[in-house]
Amino acid sequence: MCYFYYIQIDLAFLYLYNLNFYMKHFLIFFVLLLAACGNADDPSLRQLHKANSTVDLSAKEIYTKHCVACHQQDALGVTGIFPPLKNSDYFLEDPKRAIHNILFGQNEEITVNGAIYKGLMPPVKITDQEVVQVVNYLLQEVNKVEKEITLKDVLWVRENR
Ligand code: HEC
Repeated sequence: MCYFYYIQIDLAFLYLYNLNFYMKHFLIFFVLLLAACGNADDPSLRQLHKANSTVDLSAKEIYTKHCVACHQQDALGVTGIFPPLKNSDYFLEDPKRAIHNILFGQNEEITVNGAIYKGLMPPVKITDQEVVQVVNYLLQEVNKVEKEITLKDVLWVRENR
């Protein structure tokens, strides 16, 4: 919108003052510059940039954004309510099971490090790539084990739910 607004003002200006060729070019350049600045402030575009930037969250940021509320910053959870992800016998026994927990949620009774959990973990809305990142972060950074899951594992869990 503001693009046309500036063009119109400047065309009227050109007509009124009958400016020479170079001056016209200078003005057109100026109009384009203003239009570009105007677009950068467009709230819908700003939203777009924001959405894009979340694609590049680091694994730790994904954990902080999507898991910390329940499993806690130290990943030790809250005994009897939110199971630990650090030093969790359940998680480390079969990390691929965590993919299912994340994609589809979890509400069966489970025993983690001897404590019983009968809670509900809702499905976490993150991309398949983010599932890979966050599980590998928990394995390698938080638990310091050399296990790893891949995108193939996530696709397999989706197909064989
Ligand atoms: C709203 C709270 C909540 C959020 C958010 C949440 N979880 Fe859970 N999670 C739970 C609960 C509760 C259980 C136990 C469910 C049960 O009793 O069956 C659980 C169980 C698990 C388990 C299996 C048990 C264990 O300790 O090994 C894993 C793995 C897991 N969550 C990983 C994650 C990851 C990774 C994220 C973030 C991507 C996440 N969770 C986000 C509440 C949550």
